[in-house]
Amino acid sequence: MGTLWHGRFDRGPAEELLAFTVSLPFDQRLAADDLVGSRAHVRGLVRAGILDAAEAGLVQAALDRVEEEINGGRFEYRPSDEDIHTAVERRVTELAGPAGAKLHTGRSRNDQVATDLRLYCRRSLTEIIARVLELQGVLLERAIAAGETYLPGYTHLQRAQPVLLAHHLLAHGWALARDVDRLDATRTRLNVSPLGAGALAGSSLDLDPEGVARDLGFDGPFENSLDAVSDRDFVAEALFDLALLGVHLSRLGEEIILWSTEEFGFLRLDDAYSTGSSMLPQKKNPDIAELARGKVGRLVGNLTGLLTTLKGLPLAYNRDLQEDKEPLFDSVDQMSLALGAMQGLLASSWFDTDRMQAAADSPYLVATDLAELLVEQGTPFREAHALIGGLVRDSIERHVPLAELVAAHPDLGDAAVELLEPGVSVTRRTTPGGAGPKPVAHQLDRFRARLQTDRERS
Ligand code: ARG
Repeated sequence: MGTLWHGRFDRGPAEELLAFTVSLPFDQRLAADDLVGSRAHVRGLVRAGILDAAEAGLVQAALDRVEEEINGGRFEYRPSDEDIHTAVERRVTELAGPAGAKLHTGRSRNDQVATDLRLYCRRSLTEIIARVLELQGVLLERAIAAGETYLPGYTHLQRAQPVLLAHHLLAHGWALARDVDRLDATRTRLNVSPLGAGALAGSSLDLDPEGVARDLGFDGPFENSLDAVSDRDFVAEALFDLALLGVHLSRLGEEIILWSTEEFGFLRLDDAYSTGSSMLPQKKNPDIAELARGKVGRLVGNLTGLLTTLKGLPLAYNRDLQEDKEPLFDSVDQMSLALGAMQGLLASSWFDTDRMQAAADSPYLVATDLAELLVEQGTPFREAHALIGGLVRDSIERHVPLAELVAAHPDLGDAAVELLEPGVSVTRRTTPGGAGPKPVAHQLDRFRARLQTDRERS
């Protein structure tokens, strides 16, 4: 009899049941976390007087052996191993005999799987945070290297006002800083140990959930055993954080796609980070950026899928909860790949700063500066806006350069014409957090400091 519950049953499981309910193919990747959790559980059982030192030694040695077998690809799974927890316990019992059979004392797979998944989530989010920080590092380096290069800033994808390239790059950097914050907060909130909750109600044995929690690096044990085994908020939160991070990468990706078109021509991709076409010899395609955009479909899908699974579930553990793993693994894997690829793409691509600046040197992008010049001279803004708007319309309709109309206007004159010189307008964005060289220098310092702090706490 292979099942964990054979005592109560007089027949083994049907093939269809095993085929449908088995989670081993995907939860194998929790093996390392399962072993860490089991070792701490064994130490807890020793403190509780349930295992003596000799028994604990046998079980720990068996766990070491299981680890070696798994890492070496020599672990033999059996058809009856419905999940990684079952497989490990079965093997430990084979290796350690009666002592091994004590491993599961005071523990259910319900608190065990919740523990494993929290451990997995904690280390995966730590890895994701590290990768986000690396991508932010590339954005910072490129922002520093961009110096006072400027390009058009857009609203409605229409040229609006010139902004420093550094400012534009850091806008993406700050969004990623919020992602780091969110991932870190999720990691902190999930750092609670479910071990000791048992199947749902705790135990009659004098276990030591507090000590086990500390042993596993958790901030403390659960408050409520029902909640401990049925809570998957941390998975939903992680999936949300990853989905929003994905949305940010997708927005960055969309701009890389636009900028690398012939129409924009702001960016050239490195050969190693772009793809060709099987038919069109001239093509160089931004596939990384496109997939960064496209993968968000499944990141959002993973989140909505899990929320839908959780909705309406009664307390406490239900097998539905097994559906928490694949979306989580998938979002972590995809995000990890996306971050690495986007980092390489950004680090290796080449900015055509002449094209950027030429696009930003259109006199129409200076219209707001012209209106603000009038405001400085006492004209109410609404009036100034109408006056400059009229000049722009004139210039377009009569095909007269705006500079000529500005020079000829009695309220404008030389100071206004100077604003139309290439590169002048962006220097006028002087307010804190603005797009000009002065505030951007300050912003670079703040971003660098923030990145440093985040690196230290990551
Ligand atoms: N494979 C299961 C899961 O991932 C483990 C817990 C099973 N517990 C149970 N009572 N059937 O959720």
